Amino acid sequence: MNKPVDSFIRQAQGVRVGVSRAHESAHLHVAGEAPYTDDIPELAGTLHAALGLSPVARGRLVGMDLDPIRAMPGVVAVIAAADLPGVNECGALEHDDPILAEGEVRYVGQPVFAVIARTRDAARRAAARAKDVLTIEPLPPVLTPQEAHALGQYVVPPSHLKRTSHPGGVAGAIAGAKHRLKDTLFVGGQEQFYLEGQISYAIAQEDGGMLVHCSTQHPSEMQHLIAHVLNLSSNQVQVQCRRMGGGFGGKESQSAVFACIAAIASRQLGRPVKLRPDRDDDFLVTGRRHCFHYEYEVGFDDDGRIVGSEITMVSRAGHSADLSAPVMTRALCHFDNAYWLPDVAIHGYSGKTNTQSNTAFRGFGGPQGAIAIEYILDTVARKLGKDPLDVRRANFYGVDERNVTPYGQLVEDNQIAPLVAQLEASSDYRARRDAVAAYNASSPVLKRGLALTPVKFGISFNVVHLNQAGALVHIYGDGSILVNHGGTEMGQGLNTKVAQVVAHELGVNFERVRVTGTDTQKVANTSATAASTGADLNGKAAQDAAHQLRERLTAFLVEKHGPVDVRFADDTVWVGAQSMSFVEVVKQAYFARVQLWSDGFYATPGLHWNRETMQGKPFYYFAYGAAVSEVVVDTLTGEWKLLRADVLHDVGRSLNPAIDIGQVEGAFIQGMGWLTTEELVWLPADSPRAGLLATHAPSTYKIPTANDCPPVFDVRLYDADNAAETVHRSKAVGEPPLLLPFSVFFAIRDAVSAAGGHRVDPPLQAPATPEAILTALAAVQAAC
Ligand code: MTE
Ligand code: HPA
Repeated sequence: MNKPVDSFIRQAQGVRVGVSRAHESAHLHVAGEAPYTDDIPELAGTLHAALGLSPVARGRLVGMDLDPIRAMPGVVAVIAAADLPGVNECGALEHDDPILAEGEVRYVGQPVFAVIARTRDAARRAAARAKDVLTIEPLPPVLTPQEAHALGQYVVPPSHLKRTSHPGGVAGAIAGAKHRLKDTLFVGGQEQFYLEGQISYAIAQEDGGMLVHCSTQHPSEMQHLIAHVLNLSSNQVQVQCRRMGGGFGGKESQSAVFACIAAIASRQLGRPVKLRPDRDDDFLVTGRRHCFHYEYEVGFDDDGRIVGSEITMVSRAGHSADLSAPVMTRALCHFDNAYWLPDVAIHGYSGKTNTQSNTAFRGFGGPQGAIAIEYILDTVARKLGKDPLDVRRANFYGVDERNVTPYGQLVEDNQIAPLVAQLEASSDYRARRDAVAAYNASSPVLKRGLALTPVKFGISFNVVHLNQAGALVHIYGDGSILVNHGGTEMGQGLNTKVAQVVAHELGVNFERVRVTGTDTQKVANTSATAASTGADLNGKAAQDAAHQLRERLTAFLVEKHGPVDVRFADDTVWVGAQSMSFVEVVKQAYFARVQLWSDGFYATPGLHWNRETMQGKPFYYFAYGAAVSEVVVDTLTGEWKLLRADVLHDVGRSLNPAIDIGQVEGAFIQGMGWLTTEELVWLPADSPRAGLLATHAPSTYKIPTANDCPPVFDVRLYDADNAAETVHRSKAVGEPPLLLPFSVFFAIRDAVSAAGGHRVDPPLQAPATPEAILTALAAVQAAC
């Protein structure tokens, strides 16, 4: 049954989860009344910071004359590395990320000093003079992952994931195959482009304490780092985040430099300090999705079944480690995507380059891992003259066999085949394949392309200990309920889902429950809201707290009324045959001195991971999905249009179908942007401004707009409970659908291929910009 209809029925029955509800702040969002960090009323005396950035990609920082900057109008102070009170370090995992450059500069845009001024404008004008006051002896920069790999220069040691049963190993399996394929591929990176940029507002507190309002996915990490740089203990630092205007991974670790500098300045000057870089500086200072370069070799049989595969993936990690190691681990663990690969070797290298330090972005390496096998299978199909869907299907994970991943996890609850079959039928894939062929036969310039691609995405942080969460639930005397949990709200609807879970658990109206901003003084030691686990972890923790409260109220009622059945539903409590309003029960419980608040905790069970052997169970479960896209490409200009997209995505038993569909739609369009229009260009090493990210504003960096949504965009939720015991059997939704628009990329490749009668394999790289499409078309036409 279609989920929204199902949800309507459940709503009518008084169920609080599984029903579509507007985002808890939607009415504020649309009215412009939802306060973000920059909207917090500024305290008297607030100062503003701006960062002086390195104009050079790599060099020795030999001098800095900051006096002319100190003398500029409105400037109150200038802070450089030597002025920092504690360690000059804010790395996420390794200690290799200076807050301010010291002795060397590592990329164009690296913060070297901070100007604190009376107005933001004055601070920015002064900071913009960085190029005049820094003395840097330039060194040749390393800008691409290929160069870094050739130099053996990495931010973390390489990682290898291998499985083989062939007597000759993986190489033997490939060599023994009937067909072989060997090639390279490049897939570009992606800017998070959160609409609200990075921002921190620090307010020094009594007795050395510090309060920082920070747009961050990771308040606890910010608290920890601020404490570290100020030589404080964690209990002296409070970090708050009511909401973000998007994070998309870009605020998992990289909010740190802004939080730390604002806090250092506030401490030093004894005044509140706000740091909000403008969009260009945000682009230049912070990292984004890693681009990947691949070298692969596979062996396959007549059906297109892969019998052996070896791939080397090299990412552009940037100047420091940040989260590049777990990103690469996830890439390695998603090369298989939906396919059983018998003999396989996957090698991951995180290339150290003189560019921004790349970081988390929705999918966290998963998309980069999975697109490689999809590219390979797409090519295999063309080589064999088969429909790519048939080749994909021949390689799908099985149910009772061919069902173990290269990292040793059993693919339980495998929904790939039924989900794809359902979508194949509902999208009319086969008939449309014929229609596309007929269209192309009579259309010499415009070519259509069609592709169906599946997704299997592992859910859980791939660092086991991060899979935990806490929550606090208060019931006040008037029966209103306040929830606080460790997750952060970035537009994804986490607070709405958590409120639904709590309302359901206590059998009360949704309107009775309010979720407040994330605050390190309420729930301690929280994990980042990342890895799509927000609702899984915090929903469970809040459910635990609410459950304890219900049990407590039940015990109180049983003590009072004797051994009767107690039931909470529809804002009413049934005590045997008698009913009372929830408010009345709360009042009575308060006077009876029953504790009306509770904490809750959750840790995902059954996870284990050996980093050395790359084996274990890193994921609690998998989320599945598939999409069919149809495009038309103009072979004269390289322009293209998405005509139709059909999506079927598995969110288990949805907590909120409207929000989940919104997440799937958003991820689809965001992923499409990554693979088509969003191109990052760093000026090459031989240019006068070597290493400058030339595409550092919306004028040159093109994210999709509403116009890029296809006229037919049919997004449905797959109807199956999560087999794993998650909150109400739901599944995480944040990241997996970002892989669905692989279908757009491969539909474009299919259209390009049609220009050569499908006889030549188009060497299309991502993003498939019109320029990349024309390059691939030229190669196809030249070979025909
Ligand atoms: N949706 C919106 N509107 N804004 C965001 O920043 N981030 C995505 C996804 N959806 C994001 C979003 C990312 S990167 C993740 S990991 C998940 O939301 C995090 O939220 P969840 O785990 O609560 O789903
Ligand atoms: N996803 C997102 N963020 C993370 C992860 C992950 O798997 N592991 C560590 N940080």
